[in-house]
Amino acid sequence: MNNDDDAAPETPSQSARLLMCVGPRCDADGAGRALHAAVKTALETAFAAELATGRLRLETRDCLRLCTREPVLRLEPCGDAYSGASVSEILRLVGEELSPTQ
Ligand code: FES
Repeated sequence: MNNDDDAAPETPSQSARLLMCVGPRCDADGAGRALHAAVKTALETAFAAELATGRLRLETRDCLRLCTREPVLRLEPCGDAYSGASVSEILRLVGEELSPTQ
């Protein structure tokens, strides 16, 4: 007997990398490193398995060449960049990147 028809549809998933700038403009007043630390802590709670398996990676950069007045980050593989995002917004974006709905 084949139960494939009863199986729940699989949620598409992929790997993701979050690049956070801690360069001279983004971290002029310590905001870049503070955001990075807060996001790292939040990701370790919300995406522990993804971090442990390497499906999600968090990295820093010295400048993403997108300088604004707020810390800049970029998600890969989509390539979207954000400035001034909150920790909760970043968690949502990372979740969407790991499980795109197409
Ligand atoms: S210093 Fe952060 S994007 Fe340039």
